[in-house]
Parts: sequence; C-alpha cells; structure tokens
Amino acid sequence: MPNQPREQWGTRAGFLLAAIGSAIGLGNIWRFPAVAYGNGGGAFLLPYLIALLTAGLPLLIMEYTIGRKYRKSPPAAFRRLARPAEAIGWWQVGISFVIATYYAVILAWAVRFVGFSVGQQWGADPEGFLFGDFLRVAEKPGAMSEYVPGVLWPLIAVWVVVLVILAFGVRRGIEASNKIFIPLLVVFFLILVVRALTLDGAEIGLDAFFSPDWDSLTDGSVWVAAYGQIFFSLSIGFGIMVTYASYLRRRADLTGSALVAGFANSSFELLAGIGVFATLGFMAASTGGEIGDVSGGLGLAFVAFPTIISEMPAGAFFGVLFFGSLVIAGLSSLISIVQVVVSAVQDRTGMSRPVAVFGVGGAVAVVSIVLFPTDTGLYFLDSSDHFINQYGIAVAALASVVLVAWMVRKLPMLQRDADATSAVMLGHWWKICLGVITPLGLGWMLVDALRQEFDENYEGYSTGFLLSTGWSVVIGTLLIGILISLIPWKQADKDAQLDQDALNEGKS
Ligand code: ALA
Repeated sequence: MPNQPREQWGTRAGFLLAAIGSAIGLGNIWRFPAVAYGNGGGAFLLPYLIALLTAGLPLLIMEYTIGRKYRKSPPAAFRRLARPAEAIGWWQVGISFVIATYYAVILAWAVRFVGFSVGQQWGADPEGFLFGDFLRVAEKPGAMSEYVPGVLWPLIAVWVVVLVILAFGVRRGIEASNKIFIPLLVVFFLILVVRALTLDGAEIGLDAFFSPDWDSLTDGSVWVAAYGQIFFSLSIGFGIMVTYASYLRRRADLTGSALVAGFANSSFELLAGIGVFATLGFMAASTGGEIGDVSGGLGLAFVAFPTIISEMPAGAFFGVLFFGSLVIAGLSSLISIVQVVVSAVQDRTGMSRPVAVFGVGGAVAVVSIVLFPTDTGLYFLDSSDHFINQYGIAVAALASVVLVAWMVRKLPMLQRDADATSAVMLGHWWKICLGVITPLGLGWMLVDALRQEFDENYEGYSTGFLLSTGWSVVIGTLLIGILISLIPWKQADKDAQLDQDALNEGKS
C-alpha cells in the first residue's frame, strides 16, 4: 500500500485549540472541584501547582517532542526509541480504548440532563431520579438484566457525532470542530461563573473552597490526588499528546505551546472550582446549612447541581449552560481519546482514515454501547475508571519516563529538538523533573495507591467484582499491548527505513 502523507494541523492556533480541547474535559468541570475540596480545599492548590510544574508540564513537553519528532502515534513513536517500547505505546492505546468506552457514557448522561434542565424533570428528589428513574441502577453489581434506553439513545448519538467528526480528518474534523467548541465553551462558562458569583451566598462557597486546611499537606494521599488530577486533566500518559503532536509541522514551537495549553487547562480548572463552589454556597445559604460533603463528580454534577438549579431563579438557563458546557468539553476530549486508537491502527496498517475511523473507532463505540447503558453499567464504569486512572495512566506514564530518561537516555536529544524550534528554552530543570522528580512522584503515588487498595476494597465492592472489572481491565490492556507489539508490522520496516534515511540526511 502506498504511504499516504501524514495529515497536518492547518495552523498553530488550530493545534493549540485541539490540545486545549483535549485537556479541558469532564476532569476539569466535575472532577477537579470535588478532588480539590476533598483534599484540603485551598491548600490543595499548592500540591496541584507543584504537580503541574514538576510533572505535568515536563511530561507534556516530552510527549509533544516525541510526537513531533517521530510523527507517529505512540506505538510507532515509542518503537523508534526502543523496539520493546512499542508495547508501552500499545498499552496507552488500550488505556485510551477503555477510557473512551465509558467517557462517552458520562457525556450521554450530560446530553440528557441538558434536556432535563429545561423542565427540571428530576422533580423534588434529584438523587432518586438519577439512580432510579434515569439510570435504573441495580441494587448491586453483577450481571446486567436490562438495557436502559434513556442512556442508550444519547450514547449512540454521541458516538455518531464523534465518529463523523473524526472521519473528516485532523484539519477538517478535529481542528475545525475545536474552533467552534472552545470559544463556545469559554462563553458558556464565563456566563456560568459570573452568574454563580452573583448568587446570594456565593462567598460561603468560595470560603469553603479556598479555606486552606494546611494539615492536609502532610497527608500523602493529597499529593497522590494532585498528581492524578494533573495527569488525567492534561491528557498525559494515555498517548493523546504524542498523537496530536505527530500532526505538527517540523518547525512548530513546542515548549511555548505546552505552556499555553497547560496554563489554559489549569486556569479553566480553577474557574470551574470557583463557579461550582459559588453555586454550592448559594445552596448552603438558601437552606441555612453548610457546604456538605462533595462526594465525587457524579454526585456533584448530577445530584447537587440539579437540586440547586431547581432552587435558583432562571434555573433552566443555568442548567442548560452547565450541562451544555459538560457536553462540549467532554466531546472535544473524547474525540482526542478515540483519535489515539484510530491513528495507532492507521500508522501500523496503512489503513485509510475512513476505514480506521468506522472500523476501529466503530469497535470502541460498539463496546461502549454494549457494556455500559445497562442497569449494572454504573458499577462497571466506576470500577474501570478507578483502576485505569490509578494504575493504567500512571504506570504507563512512569514506564515512558523511565524509558526515555534512564533506559534509552534520550532526554538531552529531545531537549535539543524542542529547543531548536521553541521560543522558551528548556533548562536543566526539565531533565531533573523528568529524570528524578516525576519518576519518584509517580512511584510514590503508585505505592500509596496500592497500599490503600489492599487495605480496603474500593467502594466496598467484592474482591471478585474488582478483579473482574478493575484489575483485569488494567492487566488485560497491558497484556494485549505486549501481544500486539510482537506482531511484525510491515509498516514498521518502512518506518525503520525512514529513520535510516533521516540519519543519513543528517550526516550529509
Ligand atoms: N483531559 C480530559 C479531561 O479532563 C480527559 O477530562
């Protein structure tokens, strides 16, 4: 099959919007406020900032540089660093596959809640509505007994939109859609935050959010939460940024782009925290109570917010903006996650984009549609999400950093590469962060997470359930990654030839 020229972003702004669109997602709007509040409120911002500067940004720059240098998605790019490292790339593809299957489901819920907001269909008991009428969640995890049409149909719609956008390609699909999504999201979100800040009682929420609990800084799990949040939120460790950067032009500025994307993502995250807590403050003021326990994103977005929307003046408008923002932010992230899988298969097989999108992306959609919109789908989602985040993303990121910094020792080469086209030069700090701080931080995070895992079953689920839905997903993606990396791809030989040509060109 003839080699097709690699697709490219139309403009640097187009790439940046897509990278920011990938980063800003459900992780910012529904995960960050709950994680920050649960881990010391204002004091969480310190570990968060340290995690961003010592691990998030350095790794983002590393992923950009690898992607642009090798102009391939993770399996082929890692293989060019070291043959066995192709497995890390396929593992990341597997992780993206799994995340995409359930991420789309949360988007489908948000789509429905845009509609529910108009008539406040959740009535007087949003919690009962969410778990009963809407999700029809079974009493306990186990085999499914029914499909839930209220989730199934919007889920199919989400997948149709994602696959059609991807089929249009990098420039006409991903870049063009992000040029609409991001400005729209910014407008929606600014209106939301301004409205939230003008609600009675907003200051109570902001006080709760920003009152630092300094003691929490001595708690290891707070630091673990900060690193985990940064990884998921910046979309690093699961191959997205290597893939997106592989469509960059050779002269593109890397470090500057990473700084812009990283700070845009964190600013949005902070804004989301302010908006969410100002809104919770309104609720506390109107019930005369306090800001209660913000138990995870699910309760926050789909129970606490509906309750508040019913209470506030022009709540329908607020609800449409809030859930609309979740849909837009989630869509641009989901597109990037599926693109990792599509692009990896394209790079290895030489398949055309439409075939890869509808064949491989279609397979992700089918798995998502078959497994999740059921009465036990929520349990499965919860367990897969927990394990793939704690052990999939973090360990794959750790493996990639150790590989680059310590095994093939390519950090100096990548630094020269990034510096050659960037306005901001990387100093020694970049190598120190990636060579020492990031591996230590990630290693510690892993040990601590494992300790908690073995102390107590996650969410009190049975060991059998956790083994079959959480551990098996993480270990399964790793094993499949290793197996796929052993396939002797014809395309890989062509890549090796290209490498040799580039080397010869450099010498001449
Ligand atoms: N970075 C994406 C998010 O925050 C995956 O949701």
